[in-house]
Formats: sequence, C-alpha cells, structure tokens
Amino acid sequence: MNFQWYPGHMTKARRQMQEDIKLIDLVIELVDARIPVSSRNPDIDELGKNKYRLILMNKSDLADEAQTGKWSEFFRQQGFFVVALDARRKNGMKQITEAVMEACKEKIERDRKRGIKNRPVRAMVVGIPNVGKSTFINSYAGKAVAKTGNKPGVTKGKQWIRLNKDVELLDTPGILWPKFEDQTVGLRLALVGSMNDQILNVDELAISLIDCLKRDYPGVLTARYEVDEQEENVAILYGIAAKRMCVGKGGEIDYSKAAALLIDEFRSGALGRITLDRR
Ligand code: G4P
Repeated sequence: MNFQWYPGHMTKARRQMQEDIKLIDLVIELVDARIPVSSRNPDIDELGKNKYRLILMNKSDLADEAQTGKWSEFFRQQGFFVVALDARRKNGMKQITEAVMEACKEKIERDRKRGIKNRPVRAMVVGIPNVGKSTFINSYAGKAVAKTGNKPGVTKGKQWIRLNKDVELLDTPGILWPKFEDQTVGLRLALVGSMNDQILNVDELAISLIDCLKRDYPGVLTARYEVDEQEENVAILYGIAAKRMCVGKGGEIDYSKAAALLIDEFRSGALGRITLDRR
C-alpha cells in the first residue's frame, strides 16, 4: 500500500512547532489509545527534550482497558506523566489539571522559592491529525476562551487561553505527522482513521483487521457476524458480506462493501474496545 504525505506541510508545521516549543513549559501530547505507539511521532522527544511531558491516551473509550493500563505504565516508566482520556467528555478535565500541576511541580516550586507568584504553567497540545487535539482543547478550555496574548514583546502573535490561575494553553495545537517505516504502523494508522481513506485499499485494510481480531480478540468476529474464525480471511470477509447483505447491483457478493462495513464498525466501537498496538 502506498501512503503519501505532503512534505511542504510537514516542514512548515515542524518549524512552527520548534518556535512554539520555546514558549512553553509543558508538552501535552495526545496519542490514540488504540495505537499508542503507532500514533506517536518520536521526533517530539527531541523537540520537547527540555520540557515537562504529559501523554494523554485519548479515545480510551474505544480502547481495551487492560492494554491502556499496560501502555500507561510503559510510558510512566519512561518518565512521562500519563492520563487516559475521552476528550469528548468534559468531566474528565479536572484530572488533567492535577496531572499538569504534578508534571510541572519542580517549576512551580522553583518559582515559589524565587518569590514569583501567579505565573501560570504554559502548555501546548501536540499530536497527529485526527487524534482529538481540537476536541480536547475545546473540552479543556470550556468557557475559558478569554484569550490573552499579543502582549508587546512577550508573546507576539501568539494566542493563549487562560484556563485558570495556574494554566495557560497555546490555542493552536502542534501537528505531528505520523511516522512509519514499516507497513504495520501504516495499516494501523489507517484502521483508526488517521489517514485519508481515498488513498487506501479497504479490502487490504479489512484483511489486516481480521488478522488482528483473530489473534488478539478471538470470538469477536464470530459473535458479531457468525463467521468461522478458523477459515481464511477472505472467506471470513465473504461471510461478513453474506451476513450483512453486502451485494452489488447484479446480486453478487461485494467484498469492498463488507470491508468498509467491518472497518466502520471497528472505528465506531461496535466490535467492542480494541487495541491494535499490543503491550
Ligand atoms: P484533531 O484536532 O487532532 O485533528 O482531532 P479532532 O479533535 O478534530 O477529532 C477527530 C475526531 O475524533 C472527531 O470525530 C472527534 O469527535 C473524535 N474524538 C476526539 N476525541 C475522542 C475521544 O476521546 N473518543 C472518541 N470516541 N472520539 C473522539 P469526527 O468523526 O471527526 O467528528 P464527529 O463524529 O465527532 O462529529
């Protein structure tokens, strides 16, 4: 499968991020909890190397809870602060502020010792496209959309959202591009919908999803589509098509329709909570 990116956009976004990162204390990095590794761009570790780091495992409502727990532990062991999140639920946000304060406690303490009061933590949200950055910013900022910034000489051109007395957020998120050398990472990004569907071969994607499900979530396909998981993947796709009446105009089985249906049901959570990157 051939995945394409647009180098012009990437270079510009990266340059912007290099500039923005100088202004902040904390990088809030969103990853997709269904693919916590495949949805990361490791360049952020270099770009944010002197900053405090918080990883939000977003879309955790769609991910396997046990796997989310294991991945959270894995990131914590690497020195990140971690919170599992459903960015659409606004009531999970208090926990984020607690994690932000915890992640930045050294700085807060240093300020206090120097007699500096009321200097909020400055944070920036980063992540690959579609991971939920805007949703999160909207939920987290809530009504606090009073923007500060454009203070002469200080933050020229930058807009900050003052969330409360302790935290300020840069109002534009930093876009990271997914990075993959191997096909599996590309396929997983595609499965969660982080790539333009038009450039993808849905049949191939569905077959790779069937592989993952058979291996890591045995019984799920049988329960939903009454297929025999011992069969070849193509036969399983045929079974799904037959069960869901995915047929073409002449009444023939339409594999691509069945493939699209399977992928949609995975993305919407109808197949249950599933994590593709395994820990
Ligand atoms: P981005 O800024 O990083 O590009 O992502 P954005 O916030 O636009 O979110 C991309 C999609 O992911 C949106 O769905 C959004 O509703 C959904 N989303 C964000 N966070 C979560 C989460 O924690 N859980 C789940 N299940 N979904 C989440 P969409 O299909 O583009 O729009 P809509 O269907 O919500 O209208």
